Amino acid sequence: MMIQSGCPFHRTKPAPQPQPKPDGQAPQQPVDSTDPAGLGQKLDNPKAGLIPCPWWRTVINNDMVKVDHDGNVSFKDLRQALKQTGVTFGLREVAILGVKRVACHMAGVPTGGITGFMNVLNMDRINVFDLPKSELMHNGDSGTLRNGFNQANLERLISYSSDGQRITAKDLADANQKQMEADPGEAGRKFGIAEYSILLNIFGKKDESGEKFLTKEDVTKIFKNNQFPDGWEKNKVGFWAFGSSFKEMSDRQKEAR
Ligand code: HEM
Repeated sequence: MMIQSGCPFHRTKPAPQPQPKPDGQAPQQPVDSTDPAGLGQKLDNPKAGLIPCPWWRTVINNDMVKVDHDGNVSFKDLRQALKQTGVTFGLREVAILGVKRVACHMAGVPTGGITGFMNVLNMDRINVFDLPKSELMHNGDSGTLRNGFNQANLERLISYSSDGQRITAKDLADANQKQMEADPGEAGRKFGIAEYSILLNIFGKKDESGEKFLTKEDVTKIFKNNQFPDGWEKNKVGFWAFGSSFKEMSDRQKEAR
């Protein structure tokens, strides 16, 4: 059976399935447990299986960006993928400017002064295979995609669901709070809840009371299978949506401290 992505823009190409040998023996290459969606195979480079961000992995798996052999993605494609996943103009452009700066640092291009600023503006690609070495790595992440996919850390993340089914901003704040105890540092807290806020807003939905949530299956699909949640529909994710979830998580953590 062909499993397809819930993304209305792009349908997931099924990861190549190991085929039985003509003599009927079991396939020799089982799916790599650290790269269950088979990104390494898809892009013909094992570094693809080590991309640490669930959004990148999902948009790559859904062919929403083109990744060249060395791991480069153009900012044109990044902009388009952000748009297709609901990130609205203002937040998108601010994010792109920040990511261009990071891309310059990763490529060793100077960013200081007027010349550096022009370098940032003119940066046209980011190397996604180099993300694990980037300044965006921080303490206190869930560890689910550090050094490849990690099932135990995914289970720990989804265990924060307070009703056993859905994962809300409060649950994600609690998960981050716990992660910060094991791996302290204020930068990790801010980056961590910013990532969880954008995750919830892009991939989540709202219940009747307006509360945003992801189901446990949604989180598994995104992190493990690098697919959009079933029935996913594009949200409008701008400063307000992002900021209000960020604040909710931040307030939750202050209450708990
Ligand atoms: C706008 C859509 C995006 C969403 C929803 C998103 C979501 C996330 C989430 C939830 C994590 C944390 C994973 C965890 O704790 O296990 C993460 C990690 C990461 N993201 Fe993204 N991200 C997005 C865009 C980006 C972009 C544009 C970049 C950079 C070019 C990026 C780079 C990273 C990196 C490097 C990590 C790893 C952090 C670490 O493990 O320390 N992300 N992302």
